[in-house]
Amino acid sequence: MSETNRSGADSQPPIADPQIVSNQVSPIGADAAAGAPGQDLSSLQKQGERYAPAEAVLRRAHVPDFDALRQSSIADPETFWSNQARELEWFAPWTEILQWRERTDAAPPQVQWFVGAQCNITANALDRHAREGSARRNKVALLWTGEPDANGKIAERAFTYGQLLRRVNQCANVLKGLGVQAGDRVTLYMALTPELPIAMLACARIGAVHTVVYGGFSAPALKSRIEDSESKVVICTDIGYRRGKVIDLKGAVDEAVRGLDFVQRVLVHRRGDTTLDESRETDFDSALDAASSECEAARLDSEAPLFFLYTSGTTGKPKGVVHTHGGYMVGTSYTHRICFDLHDDDIYWCTADPGWITGHSYVTYGPLINGATVLLAEGALDFPDAGRWWSVIEKYGVNIFYSTPTAIRALMRFGDEFPAKYDLSSLRVLGSVGEPINPEAWLWFHKNIGHEQTPIVDTWWQTETGQFMIATVPSYPTKPGSPGKPLPGIEAAVVDKEGREVEPGKGGFLIIKKPWPGMMRAIYKDPERYEKYWTLIPGLYAAGDVATCDEDGYFRVMGRADDVMNVSGYRIGTAEVESALVSFPAIAEAAVIGKPDPVKGESIKAFVILRQGHEPSDELLQQVKQHVREELSPIAVPGEIDFVPSLPKTRSGKIMRRVLKAKELGVEPGDISTLED
Ligand code: WT7
Repeated sequence: MSETNRSGADSQPPIADPQIVSNQVSPIGADAAAGAPGQDLSSLQKQGERYAPAEAVLRRAHVPDFDALRQSSIADPETFWSNQARELEWFAPWTEILQWRERTDAAPPQVQWFVGAQCNITANALDRHAREGSARRNKVALLWTGEPDANGKIAERAFTYGQLLRRVNQCANVLKGLGVQAGDRVTLYMALTPELPIAMLACARIGAVHTVVYGGFSAPALKSRIEDSESKVVICTDIGYRRGKVIDLKGAVDEAVRGLDFVQRVLVHRRGDTTLDESRETDFDSALDAASSECEAARLDSEAPLFFLYTSGTTGKPKGVVHTHGGYMVGTSYTHRICFDLHDDDIYWCTADPGWITGHSYVTYGPLINGATVLLAEGALDFPDAGRWWSVIEKYGVNIFYSTPTAIRALMRFGDEFPAKYDLSSLRVLGSVGEPINPEAWLWFHKNIGHEQTPIVDTWWQTETGQFMIATVPSYPTKPGSPGKPLPGIEAAVVDKEGREVEPGKGGFLIIKKPWPGMMRAIYKDPERYEKYWTLIPGLYAAGDVATCDEDGYFRVMGRADDVMNVSGYRIGTAEVESALVSFPAIAEAAVIGKPDPVKGESIKAFVILRQGHEPSDELLQQVKQHVREELSPIAVPGEIDFVPSLPKTRSGKIMRRVLKAKELGVEPGDISTLED
């Protein structure tokens, strides 16, 4: 093997070497920051001045002293979490707060929270609010708005907590009638209407396990998930609406369940005039209407499975991440309350699709356990025009708005005039999730949506963590581009391969030291893949992200460990180059991949989407390169830049660099079931 090959892509370790990652931070950061050579600063830190919250925010804060709470929780996390658990209702108490068994050669690690307790997450999300005497009984739980139709008419629906409980009970009784029992799996493939959370809650109510598959997935992707989970029943919507078009969901279900004999029934929520095959299909609404609205929540073990959610891994085959009732209800409700400073009069809107973990933890479970009014909006962010979301905020007086950097950048691209047309003064807290938010998007969000008044809470977490892990609370100063600090009850660090904490500002692996209640309990049918999270750096949970932690304790996520490139011996985060690219005024979005290069090991190739009003040209190309050179470092300048109209993304808005790379290299892209288009 020649030298060239040794440094090529084939010899890449599966994940980044933090030793080399830290090399990368130094030259790039120092250049971009104060110009002090050798100083370890990430490139974003020059914009890293803290943003302190306004007086009005502090007055309402649930957690006025974040640092003090973090300190006290670290001393005794188990007591801390049991105090949070006591805020909720349990049918029977636990005998032990936490049981953690390290992995052995024979078994993966095993974690149990609130051991021996009995509970049901729906008793907390519904009964607690809907019962006689509760002030929330007639409070709106779900508020739904559809896309404007051709005449500009907008459909709306609302469910109070009382109504929601009754509808969930009817759905639960229908499922029971179909023979669904505790532990059975039910796949949900639905449009974003109230029936989706209703179906999720109905499963949970009887101890069945839901597995939500995003409505945009293709039939083969849906089929493989139904097969892996061996679902007895599938619940679907016949059609969805997006950008004025009808999306056929039922057609994909027909194709997916063909030949799967273990699927006994398909429950179809009909919005169109779809005809049903009575031998296998049942009409959702008429079945629910005919069912009793009383159904007690099943008394479940704290560790009973609540749902599986399939997420992409590095190997291609999606992983079925398993979450349970007890710990998850504690982790999601607590973090939702403190990170958004939730109050009873708030209208809360998270734009996430329910087919994503955010739609489970922070559209359905966390907010409903907290008795919030949750807004659901079907359709696209730019239909009928780029003011859609802002019009929704104005119309409903949304107080808490939680979205993604990708969406923010897309909306930014349409210009400031869209948000300027609407009254956004109801907003009190803004949130971001899914990927690092680049300072340019952060500042645009801060100025044009928050009007420099509302804190931006950037939440770092994963499908696997179930709940927020690193974030701030609204009363705490933020740094643009940083999610902040480990939340109370969570101990995180940035370490090298041996698990040693690295110095402030140096790159390394983001790890979590101790178990937390919302953590995944298994990868369905794949103990080996579960175990991997703790074996990469023995004994610690490795998130698979590369991060830094600065002198003040603020974390910065540089991207996935496997999205790090190696250029001339320097490892460069794709996220960093992308951030530099999108800070160029003419660029709206960018994706970067490493290509095998005979001299440098890897060279950088960028794909960029220009803002409206800009055209590709050689001159622009040179300006962009110059910009990256100045923002980051000469070694971070992409050798090639393609101007493209769109980028391949997952539903959760993450750019699928793997797909770009495969296309570039002319190889098979592997699993692309999570691809949006
Ligand atoms: C990965 C998890 C958790 C819901 C959304 C995605 C990245 C997530 C942030 C953030 C920087 C972030 C990480 C993480 N990520 N939030 N605030 N800042 N990066 O869930 O699909 O399981 O992806 O998304 O790389 O590991 P997911």
